Amino acid sequence: MREFLLYSRTGYTNGDFKSLKDAGRLDIVYQCILTSIFKSAAHRHDVVFHSVLNGPPNPPVHITISGADLRDAHIDERSWEDILRSVLNGRQHPGISVDRTPMQKIVQKKHADGYKIFVLSDEGERMEAQQDGNLLFVLGDHIGLPKKDEGFVLRYGSKVSLGKEKYLAATSIDIVNYLLDGA
Ligand SMILES: C[S@@+](CC[C@H](N)C(=O)[O-])C[C@H]1O[C@@H](n2cnc3c(N)ncnc32)[C@H](O)[C@@H]1O
Repeated sequence: MREFLLYSRTGYTNGDFKSLKDAGRLDIVYQCILTSIFKSAAHRHDVVFHSVLNGPPNPPVHITISGADLRDAHIDERSWEDILRSVLNGRQHPGISVDRTPMQKIVQKKHADGYKIFVLSDEGERMEAQQDGNLLFVLGDHIGLPKKDEGFVLRYGSKVSLGKEKYLAATSIDIVNYLLDGA
């Protein structure tokens, strides 16, 4: 299994918003869902996307999207605005779950389950394209991963880089999928 975890410092934790961008940059969460889960005309059945939202009114909220189980979801931003508003307001959507697990607990659980854990950062060792087993990649949002949270994750894993350029979080996920697809 390949999993991505986006730490969103500001993403709203309820569905009371007018647009994803105005909801503490939930548009970045949408973009990362798109590059994690969607291929052309298919979902990635071996990918799970997580985002931990730390914005108002009641953080944290952990959203999980399973590529294997996701149904009734198109790729456009307007559709995802509706889906994210709905699940953040407590409604159900196939393949999506919402709970209150903080990032630290997710990382500890994945580590206990035998996942290899990586922090994606332009400052890490170059990522190897050949990776066996279950993998979890942790990313920051437009501001980046807070240093103390990065330090926590690095107790369980290592920092890997896609090169010296700073990419969008969604682009970084696309590059990881591309590299691992070719391995
Ligand atoms: C828009 S960047 C964050 C920019 C932020 N100002 C910073 O310095 O972290 C969003 C996330 O994409 C990932 N990322 C961006 N460029 C990367 C690279 N060259 N290698 C690995 N990960 C990268 C990192 O996880 C980063 O936190």
